[in-house]
Amino acid sequence: MPWIAACSADDIDNEDLIRWDHAGRSYAIYRSPDDDYFCTDGFCTHEAIHLADGLVMDYVVECPKHNGQFDYRSGEAVRLPACKNLNTWQTRVENGQVEILID
Ligand code: FES
Repeated sequence: MPWIAACSADDIDNEDLIRWDHAGRSYAIYRSPDDDYFCTDGFCTHEAIHLADGLVMDYVVECPKHNGQFDYRSGEAVRLPACKNLNTWQTRVENGQVEILID
């Protein structure tokens, strides 16, 4: 399973996220308030809406369409109408680059 360089660590502000498209799939990459990085599916599991257009608050991302929420560390759906969890991928920072382990 390869680690893929997705972006510079500085491309993402604290408590924010960006969209990352790779190999025909869309991901969301997050930087937490304490500078850890996380990666989930890019689309909300309620409807196919890009979470990158949503809002990050602490360790939660809020979908922009119906305000469903997910804990982006675990992918867990924590507020309706989102009820199906997001997939998550391991991240690491190497030489200032955020890398994602894609399986
Ligand atoms: S599309 Fe995300 S909560 Fe409905």
